Amino acid sequence: VARPLADRHGRVADDLRISLTERCNLRCTYCMPAEGLPLAPDEALMTRAEIARLTSIAVRDLGVRSVRLTGGEPLLRRDLIEIVGDLAELDVDLSLTTNAVGLASRAQALVDAGLQRINVSLDTLDPTHAQLLSRRSLLPRVLEGIDAAEVAGLSPIKVNAVLMPGINDGEDAAQLLEWCLDRDFELRFIEQMPLDADRVWDARTFVPAARVREILGDAGYRLRPHPAPREGAPAERFEVLGGDGTARGTIGIIASISEPFCADCRRTRLTSQGTIRHCLFARTETDLLGPLREGADDDAIADLWREAMWGKPAGHGIDEHFEAPERSMSQIGG
Ligand code: GTP
Ligand code: 5AD
Ligand code: SF4
Repeated sequence: VARPLADRHGRVADDLRISLTERCNLRCTYCMPAEGLPLAPDEALMTRAEIARLTSIAVRDLGVRSVRLTGGEPLLRRDLIEIVGDLAELDVDLSLTTNAVGLASRAQALVDAGLQRINVSLDTLDPTHAQLLSRRSLLPRVLEGIDAAEVAGLSPIKVNAVLMPGINDGEDAAQLLEWCLDRDFELRFIEQMPLDADRVWDARTFVPAARVREILGDAGYRLRPHPAPREGAPAERFEVLGGDGTARGTIGIIASISEPFCADCRRTRLTSQGTIRHCLFARTETDLLGPLREGADDDAIADLWREAMWGKPAGHGIDEHFEAPERSMSQIGG
């Protein structure tokens, strides 16, 4: 691509995350407040056609090579299957991040529409802890959804677990790992980031990557750095070794706070309302949907997108003076 999404710090973004909705059917404490958040009116959301148009500009004119659909919870978009069908026509690595509630009835249709892989949020297998973390008792539906995804052939399946101090950072972590190893899922332990609406994140108590390695070591797991290059991915990957020294599977640790990977970041984000966020922690957004609805052509949209990314900060700047962005995780799309 002649003019990709470069920034002033020398990075190039070729990984697009698109949020399809701000709605969610869970209320994870690290993401959303119990009462939910005010929602934008439906007409403020990108339509299926607008998503297809913006994504094709990203792929054709801006060099985007992978697209991840997020939310909120993307399964709550009624036209999700159609959107996946549109994007599967493009030459990209297409994937979906979901909480899997309601996936059971749709996994096969998603595969038929062209979806290849998914990442599922699942913090614990303990129903009481799951209820505490998500404020809903929907763990059985999550597990049903994951089963269906496996049967439908989505692969690889990655599992995202945010560790919350005092809840799922004990036995739950090892239990979840054993379950994922048995089923050949790639489990990723994620450091909680200060992106929740209730501002529950605490620099003194969040579970850092070093603690994750300790928990796994104490549970008898040995880790070896994964040989594949990381290529700017949030997850640092490890092979989990069995007693005889052979690899039983792969895990990832996403250490956004204690070991930030911003210097290698390749992401650009489109919110459900059609604005560009250059960073998860961005304080400003650039509207593309407004100009698009007013008739801007593809070149003009591509230029606005490039301009938005040029201003991407070098890093998230989380320190003791950090103030969280206005939007919470459910509104940004993770
Ligand atoms: P793949 O590696 O392609 O499977 O996807 P992913 O790990 O990038 O995506 P996923 O949606 O599963 O996100 C996993 C975790 O990584 C979530 O907690 C995200 O918020 C976090 N994450 C994703 N992108 C970024 C990023 O650019 N910066 C930071 N700090 N965290 C990110
Ligand atoms: N910190 C880290 N990860 C988070 N996620 C949601 N909120 C946070 C947070 N505050 C994760 C979810 C989901 C992914 C898209 O983002 O676990 O899997
Ligand atoms: Fe990229 Fe911002 Fe995430 Fe850092 S925090 S990796 S710069 S999106």
